[in-house]
Amino acid sequence: MWDSSVGKSSSHNPVLVVHGGAWAIPDDMVEAHLNGVRNAMAAGWRVLEQGGSALDAVEEAVVVMEDDETFDAGRGSFLNREGKVQLDALIMDGATLRAGGVGCVERLRNPIRAARKILSESPHVYFVAEGAERFAAEHGIPLCQNEDLVIPRETRRLLEFQARMAEQKPDLFAPTISHDTVGAIALDGDGDLAAATSTGGTLNKAPGRLGDSSLIGCGCYADNQSGAASTTGWGEPIMKLVLAKWSADRVASGSIPEWVAKEAITQLEERVNGHGGIILLDSRGRFGIAHNTPRMAWCLKTVEKQSSGIECSGGL
Ligand code: GLY
Repeated sequence: MWDSSVGKSSSHNPVLVVHGGAWAIPDDMVEAHLNGVRNAMAAGWRVLEQGGSALDAVEEAVVVMEDDETFDAGRGSFLNREGKVQLDALIMDGATLRAGGVGCVERLRNPIRAARKILSESPHVYFVAEGAERFAAEHGIPLCQNEDLVIPRETRRLLEFQARMAEQKPDLFAPTISHDTVGAIALDGDGDLAAATSTGGTLNKAPGRLGDSSLIGCGCYADNQSGAASTTGWGEPIMKLVLAKWSADRVASGSIPEWVAKEAITQLEERVNGHGGIILLDSRGRFGIAHNTPRMAWCLKTVEKQSSGIECSGGL
């Protein structure tokens, strides 16, 4: 296929799928979620339609959602039990299997930018906490104060949650509140896949708790020989199933992403009592979107169509 707009030949029709979290998104927040995922789509698609890489597209899409206070990523994220924002993010390149991840960072507005720098400019895959922040600063990413990431809505949410918990018998293994982790997966004109995920984690988490989102194969995975996946939801069960890699492996053995995504969420619920959602793409551009939460915000674009939704993947 010859793409006259970019003056180069491309062998694949690009596809981009983004999500903005899976939970019981209240009616009065539906519009903000749909706008958020559509804005993310616009930024990521701009890259793909100019002949850019899947890797750049997922990074740009995720940055938009990190900047949007609607989501549990970047500014506006859930607070940990000490009232701080602690962020995790991962980006992965399906062509090379290179990946970059950050965990428990407190002074980065866009942790996915730091993750991308790690992927491109470091022999390592992960940096956490102060080491990650130092790496980011040394690579030209400005640091902020943690207070810059905290918004009044989240301070109120944390205080209300802690007051409620103080009246209840503690249950260490009860489902945790996790909303609005964001992610993107893409196939570009060269046939390369990429995935990215970013989160503020779970409400009232212990300081230092790392979720699934920045762990390879759990919150995110990309391999041209199998598929690209980004998950959202309660991280601990997702980690136990290594859900993104679990799904990519099934795609590699020939299953259709639409079915694998549904099967992944069934596994999540039946094996480990988990909740959440997944977006999944194969190297032919076939995709799946599934969740077992009341709602999940997503947006999908191919050269033929764009669709977005919040109720369930059945609307595609
Ligand atoms: N899935 C986000 C988290 O549990 O940290």
